[in-house]
Amino acid sequence: MNLDLNAKYWNERYLSDNFGWDAGSITSPLKEYFDQLSNLSSFILIPGAGNAYEAEYLIKKGFKNVYVCDFAPTPLRALKKRCPAIKEENLLLGDFFELDPHQIPGLLGGFDLIVEQTFFCAITPTLRKKYAEKMTQLLKPKGRLVGLLFDDPLNKDQPPFGGNKEEYLSYFVPLFDMKTFERAHNSIKPREGRELFVNMQKRDMGNH
Ligand SMILES: C[S@@+](CC[C@H](N)C(=O)[O-])C[C@H]1O[C@@H](n2cnc3c(N)ncnc32)[C@H](O)[C@@H]1O
Repeated sequence: MNLDLNAKYWNERYLSDNFGWDAGSITSPLKEYFDQLSNLSSFILIPGAGNAYEAEYLIKKGFKNVYVCDFAPTPLRALKKRCPAIKEENLLLGDFFELDPHQIPGLLGGFDLIVEQTFFCAITPTLRKKYAEKMTQLLKPKGRLVGLLFDDPLNKDQPPFGGNKEEYLSYFVPLFDMKTFERAHNSIKPREGRELFVNMQKRDMGNH
């Protein structure tokens, strides 16, 4: 693959209106999941957040500690404009793989929940193992990674990069306990039958 999937590449896609992945509003599987959460103090991170309609939804519902990370500034500015209530310091403009949990304003001991949607498929597939490891670094013990992964081969030379359950489990099973890892039943129309809903809990490795 010759593409350098850096911040400039992604930001230019937003600037040139070339962002077909953007659902334009919160997607049904995540809305349904969020609607049964009750702890408004949970620390929640949305990485590779893009326009982050999910963050806006959570904040409007009263969740107080919602953070988004993206290295493209354009969508984060758009989020702040749509949803001024998001704290400036919760807009983490930078590389997800470089996030240091000790440097994130207000965060103590890691996130309770990290939300995945079309970020995993956007990164170079050789980084997938590192993605899983990074998630465990950012989550509290027993914290959860919840969201959607494409169950579709998709592209080999440019995002979105696809995959399947078996491949994905190889990255996550060593680090997480699987609560749900199955075909989503409530996908948005264009993704119907092509995505997995995943809910995994960071394994407590103990002190051995
Ligand atoms: C396909 S878009 C998905 C955006 C959003 N999750 C959605 O569902 O609309 C992928 C996003 O990940 C961001 N991104 C890709 N690699 C990143 C990285 N290493 N660190 C932070 N953001 C990254 C891009 O800038 C882009 O906004």
